[in-house]
Amino acid sequence: MSLEIIPTGAAAGAEIRGVDLALPIGDNAFAAIDDAYNRHGVIFFRDQTITPAQQVAFTRRFGEIAFNIFSERWSVPGSPEIVVVSNITEDGKPIGIRRAGENWHSDMCYTARPPRGTMLHALEVPVLHGLTLGDTEFASAAAAYDALPETSRQRIEGRYAVFDFTGRKRAFPPSASEIERNPPVRHPIVRTHPFTGRKCLYVMRDDCTGIEGIEQDEAEILIAALADHIVKPAFIYRHQWRVGDVLLWDNCTVQHRAIQDYEMPLRRLMHRTTMGGAIPA
Ligand code: SIN
Repeated sequence: MSLEIIPTGAAAGAEIRGVDLALPIGDNAFAAIDDAYNRHGVIFFRDQTITPAQQVAFTRRFGEIAFNIFSERWSVPGSPEIVVVSNITEDGKPIGIRRAGENWHSDMCYTARPPRGTMLHALEVPVLHGLTLGDTEFASAAAAYDALPETSRQRIEGRYAVFDFTGRKRAFPPSASEIERNPPVRHPIVRTHPFTGRKCLYVMRDDCTGIEGIEQDEAEILIAALADHIVKPAFIYRHQWRVGDVLLWDNCTVQHRAIQDYEMPLRRLMHRTTMGGAIPA
């Protein structure tokens, strides 16, 4: 196996070639993949044919599986670790979560230990008149931090934001018990990546409902300004999916959003796994 890492040329992302994820991956090859993942924030492998069990096993190389509010509703039969992300309906019923992640966000930032990352395996991708739809955009929160002027850095250094599960309008209304299980948490606005030491902005509209030590009105303005800064075009990699892609993103380094520009009968089907993380520092 000769592994090649090809950066996308954008602020995040690299393609990894020369790996068949259906075969065992040795420790040296995995170390190179893990390093590319930490450095690029998004990595992807084209033309993969893997089973749900192989996706779960590969995810576990990066960390224990994390479960979220989608898992209880839309997991793959026999594989509770995999969430179905899809617009497909069968017998009038959705087979997966539709409109997952349509606004910029970092997964499960409302939890005390947000997941290290997330993996999607593309099984069906919508195409219209030869044009691929249903892309996913990634914004490098690390590049966005690097580009901040010194005055902005000083303003936010050492500050914590409040992340509230009820702040964001979700694809479906969460239950009372889900709300109770997810009380507001606090995380640093500037996170230090646990493996590279790189600083990353960690602020999103809606999920962040305040900043400790800053008046509410001013905090809301600052949250909006930082959230908009992170998603400026200079920091974005836009992934155009192909069937067989396996893509992983790092929830500290990047934020993401799914582009919802397709409807049935155009079908999109993804298998999603999530790897557990640590308390952000
Ligand atoms: C997600 O945010 O988990 C879904 C992303 C996508 O479907 O492109």
